[in-house]
Amino acid sequence: MDRFLIEGGRCLEGTVGISGAKNAALPAMAAALLTSEPVHLKNIPRVRDILTMGKLLAHIGAHVQALDLPPTDMTIQAERISDAEAPYELVRTMRASILTLGPLVARLGRARVSLPGGCAIGARPVDLHLKALEKMGAEIGTAHGYVEAQVPKTGRLRGATIIFEKITVTGTENILMAAVLAEGESLIENAAREPEVTDLAELLVSMGAQIEGIGSATLRVRGVERLRGTEHAVIPDRVEAGTFLVAGAITGGELLLERCAPEHLSAVISKLAETGVEIRSEGAGQLRVRAAKKLVAADVVTEEYPGFATDMQAQFMALVTQAEGTSAITETIFENRYLHASEMVRMGANITVGGRQAIVRGPTQLEGTGVIASDLRASASLVLAGLVASGGTVIERVYHLDRGYERIEEKLTAVGARIKRVGDRGGGESLGAGA
Ligand code: UD1
Repeated sequence: MDRFLIEGGRCLEGTVGISGAKNAALPAMAAALLTSEPVHLKNIPRVRDILTMGKLLAHIGAHVQALDLPPTDMTIQAERISDAEAPYELVRTMRASILTLGPLVARLGRARVSLPGGCAIGARPVDLHLKALEKMGAEIGTAHGYVEAQVPKTGRLRGATIIFEKITVTGTENILMAAVLAEGESLIENAAREPEVTDLAELLVSMGAQIEGIGSATLRVRGVERLRGTEHAVIPDRVEAGTFLVAGAITGGELLLERCAPEHLSAVISKLAETGVEIRSEGAGQLRVRAAKKLVAADVVTEEYPGFATDMQAQFMALVTQAEGTSAITETIFENRYLHASEMVRMGANITVGGRQAIVRGPTQLEGTGVIASDLRASASLVLAGLVASGGTVIERVYHLDRGYERIEEKLTAVGARIKRVGDRGGGESLGAGA
């Protein structure tokens, strides 16, 4: 298993190109199952989750171009679907595999999708996806760890009014993809408004779907009989961009981000501004971040879009370990999303977690040590902490980062960071820093 060696204390300066959004590319790939014609996708990030989704679509019978080395452009054609099943081996590594459920049921009238590993419907739920599909006429059961969905008699879902009790991003995406081929009209209320949902809706419209209310919490869909192929460029990754904004800020540096979408980053930009970080727009798709003269504490509450994204919570926590004063972080989206806090405490941070709130007292001088990455965004926060820590930090299990960040170590090295990937056999290598 690869690990990162980071020698902290270097100020980052230069230009970083932002990749396409993983969370927009995954539903876009799944949407290709809705048509027998080719769907050309551009700005696909080269990250592991994309590879997993490619393998899953190929298993289902789609032709996926350049499967082993996803280029930024990808063509998917699901002319015929041979096997409407998403197997456990693939789903267990990526929860977003559930995004194949809606398109498969819509196109074929049946699907069998494994539940994510260690995941019961009640505890790590996809219950809202399933309830909505039931309302659209699917019969749903679970057996042997799989969700089995079938539309009796007609094999075609019917439009329905879906009111999500809770805002769910992939749930909205799944039901939107189901509704575009359903018979009649669907109304999706309390829909997620994340830019990735909007991007999917725009892709579907370019395939011939009829959707109103794009970008709002109410989506009205008139089902059509078939969709056509199209070409679509996925939006820039707002979480990668946010992570690099924090990287510039935490290292006392100055970075120019290119090919990003500043309009999707308003909550992050205003929160960073509250801590004293300077961020300004420099022409289309460009943001410049300059570290604060003095970083000050700020409270944050994670919320659905357009609020502050839960996917930026861990990175913000790393930043405020360096800020003067007490910051209260409240996580409202996920229950157990503070695994990075204990690793940061091991690096010297002063963080107390109680339920959904974490209190960070700063500034503290972080010290490099061995830490373990626990999930995608937590891993990113540990890289950020490593960049500002004294001495060397070793981050284990960087495969979490590889799921969602494209060549993060190369992008960081290009702007002055000392970070190196070391595989198992290269375990003796070091950056010259004690870790
Ligand atoms: C997506 C993103 C993830 C992000 C999250 C919240 C993708 C591939 N992943 O995940 O990066 O952190 O949105 O912005 O786009 N819930 C239920 N029942 C359901 C579905 C969800 O109770 O059927 C709950 C979840 O447990 C969670 C909340 O709703 O507490 C929001 O989850 P959801 O928006 O569905 O997250 P994902 O779509 O899985």
